[in-house]
Amino acid sequence: MAHDVLVIGTSLNPESRSRVLAKAAFTELAKKTSVQFLDLADYQLPICDGDSAYAAPGVSEITAIIKDSKAILLAVPIYNFAGSAAAKNLIELTGSAWEDKIVGFLCAAGGKSSYMSIMGLANSLMLDFRCVINPRFVYADGSAFDGDAVTDKKIIARIEELVASTIKLAGIREEVRT
Ligand SMILES: Cc1cc2nc3c(=O)[nH]c(=O)nc-3n(C[C@H](O)[C@H](O)[C@H](O)COP(=O)(O)O)c2cc1C
Repeated sequence: MAHDVLVIGTSLNPESRSRVLAKAAFTELAKKTSVQFLDLADYQLPICDGDSAYAAPGVSEITAIIKDSKAILLAVPIYNFAGSAAAKNLIELTGSAWEDKIVGFLCAAGGKSSYMSIMGLANSLMLDFRCVINPRFVYADGSAFDGDAVTDKKIIARIEELVASTIKLAGIREEVRT
């Protein structure tokens, strides 16, 4: 296995805040274990049609990277009181690669009241692919950021908790890395 934990940024917005959360989690993870970052904005994945879309460029590569991970942190924009369509589409395209993974979420939202919106994706991963969903998750609105940095101390602590609990749940032996 090339890495223990995979962090996936699912926003297609060049100014994405969930990508900022993802990078903060990646930096924290890299101190403790092997981690890979995958940004959906680097791919042009087709909408899943349950047919020819599975053969599109990038799909088998991403599927293999997901399959090769013990745990996955999914950074997700909240759109229309749900995880974004791009995040859902990723799961539709890669399906059973998610089986039995430990999964955690980092959500970026416009306001505070959509905090339960990730449950649709969480439920589908849990019930469809027997993922173990980390109950610690990060949910941040715009007030947590200053440009490309997470500045809210509570959100920074949440990211650290998410990383530590994900490593624990996945049974990864921590290493001190510089
Ligand atoms: C189409 C669309 C729908 C959105 N729906 C919601 C919503 O239901 N609840 C919310 O809190 N924010 C909503 N937002 C705001 C986004 O969650 C916010 O811009 C967030 O930063 C998006 O993540 P990103 O920056 O990583 O792309 C919406 C934004 C867009 C573009």
